[in-house]
Amino acid sequence: MTEMPKLELHLHLEGAAPPAFIRAQAKRKNTDLSRIFDSDGGYAYRDFPDFLRVYEAACTVLTSPQDFHDLTLAVLEQSAEAGVIYTEAFLSPDFCGGGDLAAWRDYLAAIEAAAQLAEAQMGITLRGCVTCIRHFGPEQARRIAICAQETAGQFITGFGIAGDETQLHPRDFSYAFDAAREAGLGLTAHAGEWGGPGSVYDALTHLHVTRIGHGVRAIEDPALVEQLAETGVVLEVCPGSNIALGLYRNWKSHPIDKLYRAGVQVTVSTDDPPFFHTTLNNEYARLADTFGWEDHDFAAINQTALQAAFCDPDTRAAIQKKLEAT
Ligand code: ADE
Ligand code: ZN
Repeated sequence: MTEMPKLELHLHLEGAAPPAFIRAQAKRKNTDLSRIFDSDGGYAYRDFPDFLRVYEAACTVLTSPQDFHDLTLAVLEQSAEAGVIYTEAFLSPDFCGGGDLAAWRDYLAAIEAAAQLAEAQMGITLRGCVTCIRHFGPEQARRIAICAQETAGQFITGFGIAGDETQLHPRDFSYAFDAAREAGLGLTAHAGEWGGPGSVYDALTHLHVTRIGHGVRAIEDPALVEQLAETGVVLEVCPGSNIALGLYRNWKSHPIDKLYRAGVQVTVSTDDPPFFHTTLNNEYARLADTFGWEDHDFAAINQTALQAAFCDPDTRAAIQKKLEAT
């Protein structure tokens, strides 16, 4: 698995921060973050709301463009070690200057510089998907969409929404998504994780996304599964995340294999790997063990990811070449 080149479409940059990296930042800034770590030094949280609190607490020590430069390098190193050659990361202007456009430009320049370094040194390509955060509300999402609109280009290629799916409604964010679509950005929304099939329908109807973050609870509605398969909506499935956060009891009860066999376009990602004690290699190994997925299945999901990636045609062709070279 390690040597197999992989694509990842669903990774939160801050959520991928190694705990040691956050601890070092906290120490440097004289901030006591001991409450968010367990005795083994990993992130400690009880459930999804608590996960969001710990996540946001960790972000409080990421305070400068230099911090995000260093974070980007640390995260890409981690991904490259797992064989990832192309990754799309959710970038949050909320945590990079609070949604202020001028500040966001500075943070983004630092992230992009780190991405260029990583590409040259480790052969991993990064593209950014600006994400708003649902529980921060629609007004803030408009500011985030402006950040996305103003920086859309070769590096910022997508727009999404993460956060607490149980709050508000996708229609509250249609303005932000319309602005992002007009800027030519690819669109994705977290849905069908903490909300049921209705939440997936609502994201498709009101936000007109071509990809859904998670989307796994579509399995609870056969008509929706059929619709997803027919329309080619791509699911960014993160099984280890779903299991660690208690959505499913174990790998055997995770619906990814059923969705895949039903013809839904599924891809595999890690979401926030250190929070869930996982890597993309680990996800692949568990899928192979649990569902008997073989090399041709992994090749198929990587092709799905490549076709669904929000990058330009030249980048897609270059990644395709890399896949064919192995
Ligand atoms: N932000 C980071 N990880 C998330 C998840 N799994 N669901 C919603 N928002 C998130
Ligand atoms: Zn996510």
